[in-house]
Amino acid sequence: MAQMINVALPKGRLGEKVLAIFEACGYDCPSIHETNRKLIFENEQAGVRYFWVKPSDVSIYVERGAADIGVAGKDILLEYAPDVYELYDLDIGKCRMAVAACRGFHDNTERTLRVATKFPNIATTFYNKKGRDIDIIKLNGSIEIAPILRMSDVIVDIVETGTTLKENNLEPIETIVPISARLISNKVSYKFKNKEISKLQQAIAEYCAQKKDKI
Ligand code: PRP
Repeated sequence: MAQMINVALPKGRLGEKVLAIFEACGYDCPSIHETNRKLIFENEQAGVRYFWVKPSDVSIYVERGAADIGVAGKDILLEYAPDVYELYDLDIGKCRMAVAACRGFHDNTERTLRVATKFPNIATTFYNKKGRDIDIIKLNGSIEIAPILRMSDVIVDIVETGTTLKENNLEPIETIVPISARLISNKVSYKFKNKEISKLQQAIAEYCAQKKDKI
């Protein structure tokens, strides 16, 4: 008998897009569209159980096996390096990790660079490769304020449209890495539910490839 696949979905706009893709691939779940504050939904016939979780927590649920699979941004995978398989690049939720600063900023390399970010590991790896001395200021949101108030020299953050930077008189200086949403799997589930997960992965890959052809 086919086993149920437990899927951690990132709450928010990206999660809605991900759910639409899964549903178009035959993993629909009518109860998830009812308005309520439930967090877990299942459709036994389709063999799927969905949970809404905070986007940055998806990889934790998958790594620990509470979810068999999930969709997480490459930013989260790079920052936390969870022990999961990255199965497929969904090519949605596209943005980039970038360094930004106040317009006209010039780096004085004789001084330690103060870097405000939600992504200390990505920032540290990036500057270590350059051999640049940095002081990380770990923040949890609204990173753009740090250089405006002169608390940091630069920020390392997600840039999507660039509007937040522009409206705060900041400018991107350098792209660190392009980001998109990835289908990830728990390593043990991938072995023991291989038939189910591979089938889902293939359906999603085919659907995404078809969509790309149409663009
Ligand atoms: C992200 C990111 C930027 C903004 C970039 O913030 O940290 O602030 O989106 O998007 P844009 O280039 O399209 O303007 P998020 O909305 O996740 O909130 P946060 O400030 O709490 O990190």
